Amino acid sequence: MYDVLIIGSGAAGLTLALGLPQTLHIAILSKENAQEGSTLYAQGGISGVMDEEDSFAAHIADTLDAGAGLCDPDAVRFIVENSRKAVQWLVDIGVPFTRQSNQSNSPLHLTREGGHSHRRVAHAADASGAAIETTLLGLVRQRANIDLLEHHIAIDLITTRKLGKRINRCVGAYVLDRKHDVIKSIGAQVTILAAGGASKVYLYTSNPDGASGDGIAMAWRAGCRVANMEFMQFHPTCLYHPKAKSQLISEAVRGEGGLLLLPDGTRFMSNFDPRAELAPRDIVARAIDHEIKRLGINSVFLDISHKPRDFIIQHFPNLYETCLSFGYDMTKEPIPVVPAAHYTCGGVMTDLTGRTDLPQLYCIGESAYTGLHGANRLASNSLLECIVLGQAASQDITKQLHNKVFPTIPPLPAWDDSRVTDSDENIVIHHNWDEVRRFMWDYVGIVRSNKRLQRAQHRANLLLSEINEYYAHFSLTSDLVELRNLTLVASLIIRSALMRHESRGLHYTLDYPERNPQFDGLPTILDPLSAYYWH
Ligand code: FAD
Ligand code: SIN
Repeated sequence: MYDVLIIGSGAAGLTLALGLPQTLHIAILSKENAQEGSTLYAQGGISGVMDEEDSFAAHIADTLDAGAGLCDPDAVRFIVENSRKAVQWLVDIGVPFTRQSNQSNSPLHLTREGGHSHRRVAHAADASGAAIETTLLGLVRQRANIDLLEHHIAIDLITTRKLGKRINRCVGAYVLDRKHDVIKSIGAQVTILAAGGASKVYLYTSNPDGASGDGIAMAWRAGCRVANMEFMQFHPTCLYHPKAKSQLISEAVRGEGGLLLLPDGTRFMSNFDPRAELAPRDIVARAIDHEIKRLGINSVFLDISHKPRDFIIQHFPNLYETCLSFGYDMTKEPIPVVPAAHYTCGGVMTDLTGRTDLPQLYCIGESAYTGLHGANRLASNSLLECIVLGQAASQDITKQLHNKVFPTIPPLPAWDDSRVTDSDENIVIHHNWDEVRRFMWDYVGIVRSNKRLQRAQHRANLLLSEINEYYAHFSLTSDLVELRNLTLVASLIIRSALMRHESRGLHYTLDYPERNPQFDGLPTILDPLSAYYWH
């Protein structure tokens, strides 16, 4: 039994853990090694108003503009106004951000990304996420009150309703210990979902394998509302190479002068937006998709070779090496790029302390929907949200536990696997994984239509019933846990997309190609406990 159970050891979960008093007994789960997750791979950096010429008002305006009329202004203000404090906290705990000169006390070097009107992205060269993750994890490992349970995958939340009580609250989670192949019931006064996003639902993605939407799926099954699931962000520039799985090419390359080119060397972005290469991501990804389809080409090209070689290698040392390993020298030639699924803008609905609909359950980071991102996330606002909400949630939880507001946790039943057998057809799981990711890519991608969405919905429903049957009859594996979650999240994305009768931000449909001002400020909300409705 723990005071606090944190599901996820990325930027959000680790920040929260470090903010809690050391008198609390805390468990952090990660389904793989603790450092694995999207945070580790973040490149560009974390946005924050750090420069005197910049202002909170400008950062707020850029976030609202990228969000295409769907951001929650209170969430935007709260998170942006805490951005300087969040970046400073990371500096104070030792994250080695790039500075303007070699002096350790010189100001941070700030880079620029799409949609930002100022340079405001603090970064550690082009491996910002690794710098943040390893610093946070190093500190967490020193805390004697924290048990870091690696290779432990949460299967489902334990709620009092499932235990036959009238009032529903969260009391922990069922967890598969992957190394020992046992399922544990882990009880806690407070449970936090910090389980990352769901971009693995698409065939091509910048995300690591674990981004299967587990947090969103678990919250949904426990009765929490989710919002804006149709807004899946496609990053415009992933390396196009058969072996370059998931290789993102940071938006900072465009921020530092990189140009997007067609195969004949002509620039095209200014045909789509006056900000050209530095337009928000939805616009750039859609423009690339349009050009690829119009010309029947495999990719467009990103070119920064007009900049001095030393500049490129100093700013992008890892990208330079990675591209070179695939045969492209970015100091000398353009590199082929295509869009790929990158970020889940929607998620579990929370307030600005991370509280969900279910008492004693919080959700933070990419799994959550706070209202910050609206219809399209502004670059580098995700890590910012992880830190600000991680800190806000830790303060709220500390207060709640101090005031002893939560009833005691009842005895938890053991996982019942008496009626399941080992499957002799595990290959089916792999086939279903492929099928979901393929139809999501084909029918629920950058350009959608009612017909494509309905086709996808039909397939998702079929798969869901097949998988639920499989789940009821066979022993659990982590692949099955993830497949069940991924397919559920796919169905939530499709339902949300079918409900939005307009094109806005990341959701573009041929059936409603215009933005409809009647829907300004209206997130798509799905409620597992009642009919679907608009907020
Ligand atoms: P993650 O860092 O993804 O961590 C999720 C954690 O949850 C992991 O520990 C995982 O093991 C655990 N987990 C998941 N499911 C379970 C389960 N069922 N049981 C137990 N544990 C579970 N954002 C920016 O702001 N700036 C950037 O420069 C940037 N660059 C990016 C580059 C790439 C290549 C990618 C993929 C993303 C990038 N993003 C960037 C987005 C950003 O990195 C993520 O949104 C953010 O790191 C998410 O943090 P998180 O803590 O919510 O989740
Ligand atoms: C990037 O470096 O392009 C990713 C930034 C982000 O996802 O915010």
